[in-house]
Amino acid sequence: MNNQTHFGFKTVDESEKAGKVAEVFHSVAQKYDVMNDLMSGGLHRVWKHFTLTTSGVRAGDKVLDIAGGTGDLARGWAKRVGKSGEVWLTDINSSMLTVGRDRLLDEGLILPVSLADAEKLPFPDNYFNAVSVAFGLRNMTHKDVALKEMFRVLKPGGKLLVLEFSKVWKPLAPFYDFYSFKALPVMGKLVANDADSYQYLAESIRMHPDQETLKQMMLDAGFGRVDYHNMTGGVVALHKGIKF
Ligand SMILES: C[S@@+](CC[C@H](N)C(=O)[O-])C[C@H]1O[C@@H](n2cnc3c(N)ncnc32)[C@H](O)[C@@H]1O
Repeated sequence: MNNQTHFGFKTVDESEKAGKVAEVFHSVAQKYDVMNDLMSGGLHRVWKHFTLTTSGVRAGDKVLDIAGGTGDLARGWAKRVGKSGEVWLTDINSSMLTVGRDRLLDEGLILPVSLADAEKLPFPDNYFNAVSVAFGLRNMTHKDVALKEMFRVLKPGGKLLVLEFSKVWKPLAPFYDFYSFKALPVMGKLVANDADSYQYLAESIRMHPDQETLKQMMLDAGFGRVDYHNMTGGVVALHKGIKF
């Protein structure tokens, strides 16, 4: 029997997961930004702002944004590193990447863009000062392989930033569950005409490793000084680790 993994609450062959994730993001790409603002009440901007401002990324740095989608973090990195730096916007999904690239171009930002699978990064060893992945790791089939790839492309001393949904503070869980499983799919249906993708979003969040498990996974991939910061009662956590 082939290896199994999960796609939301469903169990699927490992070979099927990337295709199913691709369907989700091809379907939502055009409405992704408006849905992000709507679903989070704009909070995703605060979570991303915190990631950027606490990153330690400086002028002249080389930064890789993995699963960068519509380009929010890449735009932020570009402002921080300035003309002497280098920022790559990458994603496995052509629809998401096209929306991201067009959006940045409309804002006058020309960044290198690459269609890239996080599990097989097309970059040399020891190249980047920082690697970021926001709300992307959850969707990857082999998270351990992806984390090792992120480690490989970082320079010694370089930093990984993983922004991801995580385990909420227990008293919040009933409200969060109600919102995720009742409201989100309805919003998805009304705005993006796609309830299933937003049902997957809610399910995939529940299946994602919690704060401590992800911390251990980063340690296993070779990162040192790994720590995390909860935001909005653990709805989201920012994990950081250093390649020594
Ligand atoms: C929820 S979106 C996040 C987009 C953006 N980072 C943000 O925070 O708004 C998740 C992204 O992960 C991408 N993704 C999923 N699996 C991937 C993989 N194996 N390698 C690279 N990107 C992947 C999807 O295509 C999608 O664009």
